Amino acid sequence: MKKVTKAVFPVAGMGTRFLPATKANPKEMLPIVDKPLIQYAVDEALAAGITELIFITGRTKRSIEDHFDKAYELETELEARGKKELLDIVRKTIPSHVNCIYIRQAEALGLGHAVLRAAPVVSEDEAFAVLLADDLLDNGGGEPVLKQMIDVYYYNRCSILGTMNVPREETRQYGIVSVEENAAGDSLRVKGIVEKPAPEKAPSTQAVVGRYILTPRIFDHLRAIKPGAGGELQLTDAIASLLQCEAVLAHQFAGVRYDCGSKLGYLQATVELGWRHPEIGADFAAWLERRHAGSAGKKTGKA
Ligand code: G1P
Repeated sequence: MKKVTKAVFPVAGMGTRFLPATKANPKEMLPIVDKPLIQYAVDEALAAGITELIFITGRTKRSIEDHFDKAYELETELEARGKKELLDIVRKTIPSHVNCIYIRQAEALGLGHAVLRAAPVVSEDEAFAVLLADDLLDNGGGEPVLKQMIDVYYYNRCSILGTMNVPREETRQYGIVSVEENAAGDSLRVKGIVEKPAPEKAPSTQAVVGRYILTPRIFDHLRAIKPGAGGELQLTDAIASLLQCEAVLAHQFAGVRYDCGSKLGYLQATVELGWRHPEIGADFAAWLERRHAGSAGKKTGKA
């Protein structure tokens, strides 16, 4: 039984919602407390047994490559100063048995186009994962979401989409699936999928978040699709075509999703993970409480 060992991270997007912060820096490198956003997705993949990280990058994304590379000067300097803990943190960014592959997406033609760039490094008989780093999925100390999905894959051997229920007025932000009716459980057979439908046209309120396990057959469908929503080559459209040929399951994951592609979601993730952070969590929680009690109704105020 072939294992899922490869994960694709499409990171070529421009991050316009965070300008000017993303003018010269990739949005994936914005920190949530002390770890860049991309590393949360990478850590989730590593915890699910992934050993090959395939980054679909673009111009201005060099710092992602540097982040997952060895940092000789920094390590030498930290070693010389006897900063062992920091040295460990720097060295443990990714374990030594894990490979990083970088593929350039010269033109931003859509998520489907980005995923298709990975075809040359995925074999014809292996399923692979796709993680969108904007979606930070947190299951507390529980099983990481990609691990949950890979387990579902090993049981069913078909493509799996991570999904969650959203308010109907938000369907325009997501790929929306329709699933078989009168079925129970967390993993349901997908009957249809549509990218960013208007609320009145959405077939359901089950939204795809940025986690996918895909069979390699998806590449044939990605090659065949035409531009869809927003004039882009949509992964959703290739999945719609794939499910005419083979089963696709929607897995309603256990955990919380933060939309770190939006300022509000990014701040919510920062507060939640700051509040739980082993080093500053207790002080941050105390400050939040003081602030809440002391400055309710005010928008500014000193710590
Ligand atoms: C992408 C996908 C969409 C999915 C969403 C999850 O959209 O195209 O189907 O629901 O990610 O975050 P984007 O947010 O990149 O526009």
